[in-house]
Amino acid sequence: MPGRHFLQIPGPTNVPDRVLRAMAQPTIDHRSAEFAAMAREILNGLRAVFQTSGPVILYPSSGTGAWEAALVNTLSPGDRVLMFETGHFATLWRNLAARLGLDVEFVPGDWRHGVDPDVVRSRLSDDRAGTIKAVAVVHNETSTGVTSRIAEVRRQMDAAGHPALLIVDTISSLGSIDYRHDEWRVDVSVGCSQKGLMLPPGLGLLAMSEKALTASRTAKLPRAYWDWTPMLADNAAGFFPYTPPTNLLFGLRESLAMLAAEGLARVFARHRRHAEATRRAVRAWGLELLACDPEERSHSLTAVLVPDGHDADALRQMILDRFDLSLGTGLGKLKGRVFRIGHLGDFNDLMLAGTLAGIEMGLSIAGVPFTPGGVGAALDFLSRG
Ligand SMILES: Cc1ncc(COP(=O)(O)O)c(C=O)c1O
Repeated sequence: MPGRHFLQIPGPTNVPDRVLRAMAQPTIDHRSAEFAAMAREILNGLRAVFQTSGPVILYPSSGTGAWEAALVNTLSPGDRVLMFETGHFATLWRNLAARLGLDVEFVPGDWRHGVDPDVVRSRLSDDRAGTIKAVAVVHNETSTGVTSRIAEVRRQMDAAGHPALLIVDTISSLGSIDYRHDEWRVDVSVGCSQKGLMLPPGLGLLAMSEKALTASRTAKLPRAYWDWTPMLADNAAGFFPYTPPTNLLFGLRESLAMLAAEGLARVFARHRRHAEATRRAVRAWGLELLACDPEERSHSLTAVLVPDGHDADALRQMILDRFDLSLGTGLGKLKGRVFRIGHLGDFNDLMLAGTLAGIEMGLSIAGVPFTPGGVGAALDFLSRG
């Protein structure tokens, strides 16, 4: 099809031309002074994005690798971990933790709400013996468009006076929704490249606290590739214990420069504004948002329920075929019931207008019962400031 493809899934996101061009440079020697200077610049730049003054590391991996790294570096076989069923990704992380030999307490959820901080407090208060070693939470559930309140989770952990580590998946919030590793005293934050950082998939990221570094000295889960000790040691000089993905790092240097030039506060405000415009469109269409609590609605994506009797995947396929617009599929038990609109990363008003126009035309062609005017409602909001 002529013209640009609209990649409006909630990650991988659109990679800016600037980043693509940066990645097209010839690969350099990863043991050279030139590489070391770039790596140090990047690791510093990532600190700003995680809002931390502590170490940040990166692995050649997807986000799942970084999930595993967060757990194997800090925990031991049989350790109890408190996790929450907020959606598909929280469930996958729980499964991974169980396969590693951790004893997961999985608090059930309805996939329409975030983590309840009061439940965190009560579960930890009940654990007088301190057998729970970590609380692991997905900040922004990409399968549902629900954002959990990490600052409040931290407050309730403090209120319970419990020493568990706080491990947070910020995969679809980093660089798009306000996320404060230091201020919220998160022990390990898990990120990756293909969402707010506007890169292709291939980088797993971790930020860690002093407390996490201390825990890693006695943690006994087997770790080799994911062991952060040699990574931290080599990173200090700008190097890696194994071959890093050099050309992704060229791209990362560029995307960090873009985020720094825009300023994180403006990046977050842009995402908030596009999320609000999207929700206005959905409301005007008369369709239902999956996220129930207005306080928990994600700024990086919106999941929309399709009326009973209609298949969200058939709608998505038709929109792709007709308008070259990719929307996110329903994952796990949401298959066929929702479509997800990614409005994160390298994104602007007219890209959102095009995305919503594709959806509105698609709803009409598919015969889904809806009220026309969602695009108008979004444009009205966007044009007011
Ligand atoms: C919140 C969240 N956590 C974890 C993952 C897994 O990351 P990956 O697919 O890169 O392994 C994803 C992927 O979309 C995600 O959205």
